Amino acid sequence: MSSNLFPITRLRRLRASEGLRGLVRETSVTLNDLILPIFVEEGIDAPLPVESMPGVERIPERALEGHVEALARDGIKALMMFGVSHHKDPAGSDSWNPGGLLARMVKKAKRAVPEMVVISDTCFCEYTDHGHCGPVEAGEVVNDAAIENLGHQAVVAVEAGADIVAPSAMMDGQVAAIRRALDAAGHTAAPIMAYSSKMASAFYGPFRAASGCDLQGDRKTYQMDPLNAREALRESLLDEAEGADFLMVKPALPYLDIVARLRQQSLLPIAAYQVSGEYAMIKFAAAAGALDEPRIVRETLGAIKRAGADLILSYFARDIARQGF
Ligand code: PBG
Repeated sequence: MSSNLFPITRLRRLRASEGLRGLVRETSVTLNDLILPIFVEEGIDAPLPVESMPGVERIPERALEGHVEALARDGIKALMMFGVSHHKDPAGSDSWNPGGLLARMVKKAKRAVPEMVVISDTCFCEYTDHGHCGPVEAGEVVNDAAIENLGHQAVVAVEAGADIVAPSAMMDGQVAAIRRALDAAGHTAAPIMAYSSKMASAFYGPFRAASGCDLQGDRKTYQMDPLNAREALRESLLDEAEGADFLMVKPALPYLDIVARLRQQSLLPIAAYQVSGEYAMIKFAAAAGALDEPRIVRETLGAIKRAGADLILSYFARDIARQGF
């Protein structure tokens, strides 16, 4: 070791040019690593900009096919789809109606670009009139009814053509219930991407406007306390045991410790979700001239990969597709 000290060792040698830096770069992000979340609204004619997420808009259902074709031309390979429903009820039943928005948007996306990997966010908060992620009784979301309904929704999503279902309701037993329902319907090959370590995070603020969710109250009785790391690992490892094919940490940047620790404890592919609030912080800081947006995007996505994520859900995915990493 002693002969490796200065002046023999000079770490600056390998930083002297972009060519050298490229040779020793340990992390990269490619389009195979990125999933673009999109919002699809029924009953509107023109795209609706989301003010809290500059550059993001709700796509009219009737323009979805052309939009998905354009995304594919830009190089996007995978989408996480959210519906903005005009047919809400206490259970969110439109989400498991085979003629409902969720089924229609999945069908349209797959019809437009069959090779696009379509992931269906499997939850109810965009489809319930109270905004919670399952039916509510006496002020509380009813776990076992919610997971039963998640099973119905997952089957409808897969039968509409979804390549992956992604349960995000944070109900106990949701992965097992969905696996059971899919298998019983003959869909043994349909993978589950579990939002497994999902925090009750204030970083979802802008998403609520984007998805038209009218939540009163909060999700603290089902989403996790952001200050707990061991519990986050338990959540993900339980989902793995229940049959998840992918795990997910959400949000991403404030939870890289969870990503890194989970990487040590699971052999499953790990996704991390750079959520609406992470996106908005970068966009508004860049608009104010405080941050260089392309450099910050590269640095944050790179950091998420470096921490151990295989996949990143990001509203910046299209920018990376167009401009490169
Ligand atoms: C649905 C869901 C949410 C997000 C993804 N799926 C909202 C929530 O849990 O409150 C948030 C995504 C984002 O903020 O970008 N349950």
